[in-house]
Amino acid sequence: MFRFLPEQASTFAADVDWIHNWITDISVFFTVAIFGAAILFAIIWRRREGKDHATPQILGDHKLEAIWTIVPTLICVFVAVKGLVSYQDMRTPPANTLDISVTAEQFNWSFEYPNGKKTTNDITVPVGHPVKFIMRSKDVIHSFFIPAMRVKKDVLPSMFTTLWFEPIKTGSYQGFCTEYCGAGHSAMLFKVNVVSDAEYDRWLTDDSTEFMKSKMNAEDLGRALYEQKTCNTCHSIDGSMRIGPSFAKLWNKKEKLVDGTEVLVDENYIESSIVNPNAQVVAGYAPIMPSFEGQLSVDEIKALIAFIKGLEKTEVAPVAAVQAVAVAPVDRSKLKPEERGKILSQEKLCISCHSIDGSKVIGPSFKGIYGRKGKLVGGADYEVTDEYIKESILNPMAKVVDGYAPAMPPYAGQLSDDDINDIIAYLKTVK
Ligand code: CUA
Repeated sequence: MFRFLPEQASTFAADVDWIHNWITDISVFFTVAIFGAAILFAIIWRRREGKDHATPQILGDHKLEAIWTIVPTLICVFVAVKGLVSYQDMRTPPANTLDISVTAEQFNWSFEYPNGKKTTNDITVPVGHPVKFIMRSKDVIHSFFIPAMRVKKDVLPSMFTTLWFEPIKTGSYQGFCTEYCGAGHSAMLFKVNVVSDAEYDRWLTDDSTEFMKSKMNAEDLGRALYEQKTCNTCHSIDGSMRIGPSFAKLWNKKEKLVDGTEVLVDENYIESSIVNPNAQVVAGYAPIMPSFEGQLSVDEIKALIAFIKGLEKTEVAPVAAVQAVAVAPVDRSKLKPEERGKILSQEKLCISCHSIDGSKVIGPSFKGIYGRKGKLVGGADYEVTDEYIKESILNPMAKVVDGYAPAMPPYAGQLSDDDINDIIAYLKTVK
């Protein structure tokens, strides 16, 4: 009765399921027996024909008491012993395990094999071989769970935890993070591919992607990384303005920094901008780039440098409209508030994160924003009013719209009240 457990794919599964089903059956049996008796007795000894019956006085029955003490005790001891034996089994890996190192971080799983092969959100293991996972988290507590193998273990930032199983069936099985770890928790999934020995050996020694990487020249690898590591979200390669400086013609350029000093864009500046991006921020940009420390090898950094160097030759697209407006000398006092607001929205780069055509960039689009209603991160309602816009500019983290990251820098001190009113006037016109 009540057999809803997933496929049995490891040597533990039969054992775990047996005791699980046994407990379920016993519970169902006693539930039915107790409630059945209660209902039956209520019917048999109900009040009939308006006559009251005296309740008989029943004194203790030692035999009965002994039975209802001893039987449940035996059942509990049996469950405890059986469970303990299974648990002991799960805690004691055999000596010949295949050891895979697991690193959990918000929100993915990376795996490393003994020969150095690395994968993300995907493990391949040979059928019939015990596999051991040595796990560690980079940030918060995650939990490694493969239902088909009947194994689950927390993955901690402070210490290593391990887990093992022996797959008995080839196939692809779903793995989960089963400890709530943040917004991407539900997407923190991985696949376990159980394959034959021969297939596993082929897979393990197949280094075609690594091989391809090693065959690429540095510039091509840099271009691939530019997309893979999503540098392209913020840095264009055609001279157009995004959240960070364009890579076009960046090499060997003298950049003015926010603190007024100048820096030459050379190998060291590029490396330090990747590893420690907010140390030397170019004037006109916000210090919002995340550090890529530890995510790129020296070779990969060299490749990105080669890629940026290569862009020295590219034709830079005609200067983006954004910049043109920003530098145009206009007597702003003669403009209407919404016109001044529009110029400010371009100068302050609001529009690198907020589109005006309804498309989703990093922040909500400005199109039709005034009066918009919806939910904030955390579930509260919001409506875009003058006050909401003002607060979002000065203290953007206070009310982040659901579905967006809290990525906007605060503009307190950078815009006057008049500036903000101009921007509000402009936003009312973006429809
Ligand atoms: Cu990681 Cu939930």
